[in-house]
Amino acid sequence: MPDIQLDFLGDLKRTHDCGALRLEHEGQRVLLMGWVHRRRDLGGVIFIHLRDREGTSQLVFRGESFPEPHARAEDLRSEYVIGVTGIVEKRSADTINPNLPTGEVEVVVDKIWIFNESKTPPFPMEDTVDVSEDARLKYRYVDLRRPRMQRNIILRSKMSFAVREHLYGQGFLELETPFLTKSTPEGSRDFLVPSRINPGTFYALPQSPQIFKQLFMVAGYDKYFQIVRCLRDEDLRADRQLEFTQIDLEVSFPQQNDLFAAVEPLVQKMCACAGFDIPAPFPRLTYVEAMDRYGSDKPDTRVPQLYRVEDCFANTDLPIGTLPCVAITLPGTGAPSRKERDEMKAFGNERGLRVFDDAKRLDRDYADAMAKVRTRTGAGENDLLILAGWAAPEAKGARPHETVLKACGALRMFAAQMFNDRHQLLDPKVFQWLWVTDFPMFEWDDEDERWVAAHHPFCSVPDSDMDKLESDPANCRALSYDLVMNGNELASGSIRIHRRDIQSKVFKALGLSDEEARAKFGFLLDALEYGAPPHGGMALGLDRIVMLLAGEPSIREVIPFPKTAKGTDVMSDSPSPVSDKQLRELGIALRKPH
Ligand code: AMO
Repeated sequence: MPDIQLDFLGDLKRTHDCGALRLEHEGQRVLLMGWVHRRRDLGGVIFIHLRDREGTSQLVFRGESFPEPHARAEDLRSEYVIGVTGIVEKRSADTINPNLPTGEVEVVVDKIWIFNESKTPPFPMEDTVDVSEDARLKYRYVDLRRPRMQRNIILRSKMSFAVREHLYGQGFLELETPFLTKSTPEGSRDFLVPSRINPGTFYALPQSPQIFKQLFMVAGYDKYFQIVRCLRDEDLRADRQLEFTQIDLEVSFPQQNDLFAAVEPLVQKMCACAGFDIPAPFPRLTYVEAMDRYGSDKPDTRVPQLYRVEDCFANTDLPIGTLPCVAITLPGTGAPSRKERDEMKAFGNERGLRVFDDAKRLDRDYADAMAKVRTRTGAGENDLLILAGWAAPEAKGARPHETVLKACGALRMFAAQMFNDRHQLLDPKVFQWLWVTDFPMFEWDDEDERWVAAHHPFCSVPDSDMDKLESDPANCRALSYDLVMNGNELASGSIRIHRRDIQSKVFKALGLSDEEARAKFGFLLDALEYGAPPHGGMALGLDRIVMLLAGEPSIREVIPFPKTAKGTDVMSDSPSPVSDKQLRELGIALRKPH
């Protein structure tokens, strides 16, 4: 680094940001500060693009008129931090930069302050340059200066503000809940925090504020919301982080429709922040309909639905057994190639399906049945049409037909992705929001051999299904719902249980003894005995919503300081070992690593 004299900020104040200057400022004297984005040295004249988060302005250093700032500008390098004063001049027609909002003017610099130098940045600021994620995360403070990240993080901030503005306007209260809470067994793994004052005991970081927001309803604070960090020790994926942000809501005396009506305009406003106008109300599907038509509880409705067709083949020898058989169609793909058919077949086979990929042959061998299939699906000659059924006589799971439908749903999306370059159904700028309602209350956990809550154990059950809690858990529904968009789960919620007797019944159905339920959820059970009102709510995944609206493939692109896929922060080097002294204070002895 050249040894240059650095200046203090003193009482200097900016007159404008770097994105503000236009023709109307011509002739004005301005004071700008920012980062040296690019420097072109033409000898007698040096051009600098000065950048801050609002944009870029061109500075001109003319040696002849202002020798001192010109001489100092010779030392400037990328990412130096400077301030300048100068006069705004109109650029001549042939030097106007149409790519910059400030491109019609430039600032002729008469004075410069150099506040700080910069080492050569680890990668260029341009988005067009591909940089490894490791390098980007190690130097995240540099990465965050790049235009793509600035767009994403600023969009995120605007969306958070829109959420607050809307919810405050609707009479919601923004209330906080504790971060040091009690470890509870349901859901994902907890992050634990050892208590120094109470050796041998641990707090858990909240996986969500679920129980506390319910306690707010018991306490009479109707219409609660919080934009809140949640922490879950689970495996990371493109749409999962260890810490993520929810927009958490809860209201008292709600009908499900009231909740949907409260959230739809909220989602519309968030979309508007990204420049998308989306229609409401959103369509609704029950869980059973979603499974039947899409083989998924978070359907991507940009892709045509599945059609159940086992009835069409009822009296034929097509080997499909008694389980569901579906037709998958995609418009305008033409006949699939041998390779495409093989790939679909292999994908289906791996998931237990028998795939009938030769529509021409089916048309010939099963003319009557296929005529019905074509009428039902509307699939013509130029469309993809494949059938899929279960290969074995039986399917596993508490709801075996769902096991089959899920595999068919996965094949449908595999085909849609494979043919996407031909029919372009998966347009990332088309947003299809919908509600999925009436989820099952329980899922069967094969490993533990017990029922677990499909959403969480605080969901209410419709009156008509109350006796199924004990007699038929597989078919007991919950008053729970998800908000889904393009195959992504973006929010979940439910009407809650507000009576202690019913909450106890659900814990029992989940295999918790009275003592266990007391030890883990005693405070909730107690609260339900002190005038708990009917209540319900939901939580929206802010990171995922920003990711999709920003057109990004991972939530890491919309979180300022995310963890890597291995759960590490390569910038601060965490997690990291701690000193013996710290461990001793906490009463913790480490086991030998296995
Ligand atoms: P749930 O667990 O479904 O519900 O979470 C709500 C929404 O949060 C988002 N989400 C995540 N985003 C990023 N990384 C993660 N690891 C992650 N996990 C979840 C999803 C999801 O839809 N207490 C209930 C809500 C309620 O019933 O009110 C809850 O937490 O978009």
